[in-house]
Amino acid sequence: MAILVTGGAGYIGSVMVEALLENGEDVVVLDNLFRGHRASIDPKVPFYTGNIGDRKLIDRICADHEIEACVHFAALAYVGESVTDPQLYFKNNVEQGIALLDGLLDAGVRRIVFSSTCATYGEPQYMPLDEQHPQSPTNPYGWSKLMMEKILAACDHAYGLKYVALRYFNASGATLRRGEDHSPESHLIPNVLYAAMGRIPHVSVFGGDYPTPDGTAIRDYIHVADLCSAHVLALEHLRKGETSECINLGTEHGYSVMEVIETARRITGSPIETRMEPRRAGDPSRLVANAEKARAVLGWQPRYDNLETIIQSAWDWHRSHPDGYSD
Ligand SMILES: NC(=O)c1ccc[n+]([C@@H]2O[C@H](COP(=O)([O-])OP(=O)(O)OC[C@H]3O[C@@H](n4cnc5c(N)ncnc54)[C@H](O)[C@@H]3O)[C@@H](O)[C@H]2O)c1
Repeated sequence: MAILVTGGAGYIGSVMVEALLENGEDVVVLDNLFRGHRASIDPKVPFYTGNIGDRKLIDRICADHEIEACVHFAALAYVGESVTDPQLYFKNNVEQGIALLDGLLDAGVRRIVFSSTCATYGEPQYMPLDEQHPQSPTNPYGWSKLMMEKILAACDHAYGLKYVALRYFNASGATLRRGEDHSPESHLIPNVLYAAMGRIPHVSVFGGDYPTPDGTAIRDYIHVADLCSAHVLALEHLRKGETSECINLGTEHGYSVMEVIETARRITGSPIETRMEPRRAGDPSRLVANAEKARAVLGWQPRYDNLETIIQSAWDWHRSHPDGYSD
């Protein structure tokens, strides 16, 4: 019995593959390598290069391997790109996502762990955000994820598909061998570290006039290894025959952009130049998770929930991989 990891060559997926292998699981990876890296995956792991929307390929993977569950990371995930090209996002994340589900259902796979996002909540009405918060995304990326959540719920009702949709806050940090290597990079922590390494001249800070103590936006940064340990627990939850759930994954701590930059300055010893830019449309001032449900339902406990540890792990990875995966 194997676990299919879609998007396994991406940032979070590659750490998940590492975690599953450490747990002795059989893993199969499907990734079109549009934003992922073949070098992030152990060559011994069966790897299929292709689209999640390729029904013939899904059928072949399910015929070649006895797929027991799917951890579905594969998606495009840049908010700005989704605003300028929404169709790309709906086709890739929703249309192809439906084809993947179709193939899995036909093959008798009934367990899915799905990468959702706090972007499904939209403009916060209260803080911290719990799972009951209304969902009204402010961009096509968030909508594409919310649509997939609704499709999963309908498939549970109709076909008995059981799923855990994990709504991540800001994934960050690295393990010793796997880290964040996106091109273009839109996330704060890798960009701050690129500035420390001299790969970019400065870090853009989008908005210095938010109603926060230092005027910059506050986010909840969760270590990628903690994210993945929650996915392992979500798989166990499904194997025990438990109900489908939507669950937040965050640390419940919020850090401002300037706190991230100050912490990175201390860790790297670099001055890290900043440039103040206008706020980005649709960027709320504060996004912090209520993660009580992850603790209560999954028994999850984050191990690396402080900013120093997160940034240090990312810095260690970037220094040992100055050109990323170099592919
Ligand atoms: N990084 C975050 O902070 C964050 C926050 C919330 C949610 N998420 C979600 O988590 C998942 C993983 O995020 P990530 O940061 O690792 O992104 P990533 O871009 O590093 O990884 C996604 C992977 O999916 C692959 N992919 C995309 N579309 C595909 C398709 N149609 N067929 C096959 N492969 C495809 C890409 O090549 C890439 O390797 C995504 O679904 C994202 O929306 C990420």
